[in-house]
Amino acid sequence: MTLERVLITGGNGNLGRLLAARFIAAGTQVISFDLPDTAAPEGALACVTGDIRDTDLLRDLLDRHKPQAIVHLASRLSGSSEADPQAAWAINATASIDLMHMAQAHGIGPFVFASTIASYDTGFARHLPEDAAQWPANVYGATKVAVERMGVWLKKSAGFDFRCLRFPMVLSPFAPPGAVTAYPGHAINAAAKGEAFAFPVSADTGMSTLYLEDVTRSLFEMTLADANRLTRPAYNLHSFHFTAQQWADKIKQEWPDAQLSFAPDAKLDPLIREWPDVVEDASARADWGWSPSYDFEASAAAMMGLMKG
Ligand SMILES: NC(=O)c1ccc[n+]([C@@H]2O[C@H](COP(=O)([O-])OP(=O)(O)OC[C@H]3O[C@@H](n4cnc5c(N)ncnc54)[C@H](O)[C@@H]3O)[C@@H](O)[C@H]2O)c1
Repeated sequence: MTLERVLITGGNGNLGRLLAARFIAAGTQVISFDLPDTAAPEGALACVTGDIRDTDLLRDLLDRHKPQAIVHLASRLSGSSEADPQAAWAINATASIDLMHMAQAHGIGPFVFASTIASYDTGFARHLPEDAAQWPANVYGATKVAVERMGVWLKKSAGFDFRCLRFPMVLSPFAPPGAVTAYPGHAINAAAKGEAFAFPVSADTGMSTLYLEDVTRSLFEMTLADANRLTRPAYNLHSFHFTAQQWADKIKQEWPDAQLSFAPDAKLDPLIREWPDVVEDASARADWGWSPSYDFEASAAAMMGLMKG
């Protein structure tokens, strides 16, 4: 499939900027939508700023820029969602569902949605099967499930081209402050600056993870995937599991004087520990050829390389 123009909501964020670069390199024009006071991705055709809850603004954007596809990343993350559940519902659930209705009315598709492993309840600490029921334990997960359910309903009832990827922890040096899974990124940034860092989890805590580059590649590939090959609307993805101790050891190899310690947070440590170590992703591999390029060693090497410039 060739794609002339894509709208990326949250396009100025951690994943959005890198995804925009992939599309631009492939010859696809990118329209980014994000909050004011955020920086547009380099090379974007246009960047529209405002709030995702502003339906008039979004409708005008779709009328004026006529994207063929939408990758919807604008969202409150896990930590900031729990801090203000009503805002989280309005931004993550209601505004996303409004945007899907608008996209459908404009004949836009694929609509690719970034969901999360937090859409599942705990109880799958070792292994998450593909067809586990989604009973999220937090409001962030609940907002994502609401969008998934409505996307599937629109797909079934109206042929809307809804596609969803559920991400585990995303290992990234640009980890946003609002994500509870961002501590490995914060640790490496602290070490690079010569600052002390206390992991908010125990040394042996870890969960299923994808490296940033694999995440943006998966979004790119899912947007371009042949619809006939997709046997399900939503796919789980997995690459590797690592513990906070393994990450501290990697950091120490590069910065031997790094001051790293473990101060497990009473809420966060059990949360991360109870999320799965391994997420079954056989359907993604079979349907659209998903295969992660970065294991733990390759991810660590890439992160250290980025931090050292
Ligand atoms: N990073 C992870 O670990 C992870 C894991 C699973 C899923 N996701 C999902 O991936 C997507 C992108 O995450 P990210 O890591 O790039 O985070 P990010 O915070 O860098 O990106 C989210 C973007 O949404 C924008 N945004 C927030 N509220 C908005 C509003 N009201 N109106 C318009 N824009 C708004 C932010 O400005 C930001 O640029 C999100 O939907 C997130 O839920 C991320």
